[in-house]
Amino acid sequence: MKVKTALNLLRKNASETKTPERLPRHVAIIMDGNGRWAKKHKMSVSKGHRQGTETLREIIRHTDDLGIEALSLYAFSTENWNRSEDEVAALMQLILDFFASEIDELDAKNVRILILGDKGRLPEKQRETLLEAERRTQNNTGLRLNIAINYGGRAELVKAAQEIAVLVRNGTLRAESITEETLADHLYTRGQPDVDLLIRTSGEMRLSNFLLYQNAYAEFVFPETLWPDFTVAEYDKALGAYGKRDRRFGGRTADDETEMEAP
Ligand code: IPE
Ligand code: IPE
Ligand code: MG
Repeated sequence: MKVKTALNLLRKNASETKTPERLPRHVAIIMDGNGRWAKKHKMSVSKGHRQGTETLREIIRHTDDLGIEALSLYAFSTENWNRSEDEVAALMQLILDFFASEIDELDAKNVRILILGDKGRLPEKQRETLLEAERRTQNNTGLRLNIAINYGGRAELVKAAQEIAVLVRNGTLRAESITEETLADHLYTRGQPDVDLLIRTSGEMRLSNFLLYQNAYAEFVFPETLWPDFTVAEYDKALGAYGKRDRRFGGRTADDETEMEAP
């Protein structure tokens, strides 16, 4: 009897954590709420950020286990330089610690790392670490892990416009031939699918300059949970919600079409 109960429990858990049927190809996450988490626990803000990296590890692992194609994480925005020197220093240190502890496992799992953002303004150590992570994993063919550091969506679009302008100026491209694809090809995420699902934790409901072009048709989910408390189960819930969304892209779903055609 006892064995049977245990088995039933196992089955129940398995069905609850069942992989959603329609998974996004590209998930983007704005990892927000570290500061509020730290305040709630009467800890320093850097402890909050450190706790946030624990969530980060689990979410990356789970995304990889699910076989999702691309995951983009907002780690540091161009606007985050406005924070105190101490907080910026703590975040910069976390970047080094994160790669030091994770790079072997990520590489072994065939994860391909890409940094979104301008590495030019980062301290040399951080810049070298990020370049090395990209270089080391560039031929990997598994999960595409994009980490946005010193990233701004508008800055990314300006960079693309400048690169395209140079091609027009030197005669490689005609202005009339510029398409949406041309622009997409000059973004950090070139070659990757658009974002299908955007998750922002902590109850805030804004993009904060994240992947402005790529999020054009993304489905948004805004869990209330602060990032350090965000769990794999809540992530699955967001993926499940995505699976139920009716993505129309301006058109009509098949059901709608039949109803409309009825006399
Ligand atoms: C997000 O947490 C992490 C970064 C911006 C690096 P916050 O630090 O913004 O957390 P809150 O919004 O203050 O709670
Ligand atoms: C966005 O969060 C940036 C990251 C999560 C890295 P912020 O907390 O900086 O955004 P705002 O200031 O609330 O819009
Ligand atoms: Mg915030």
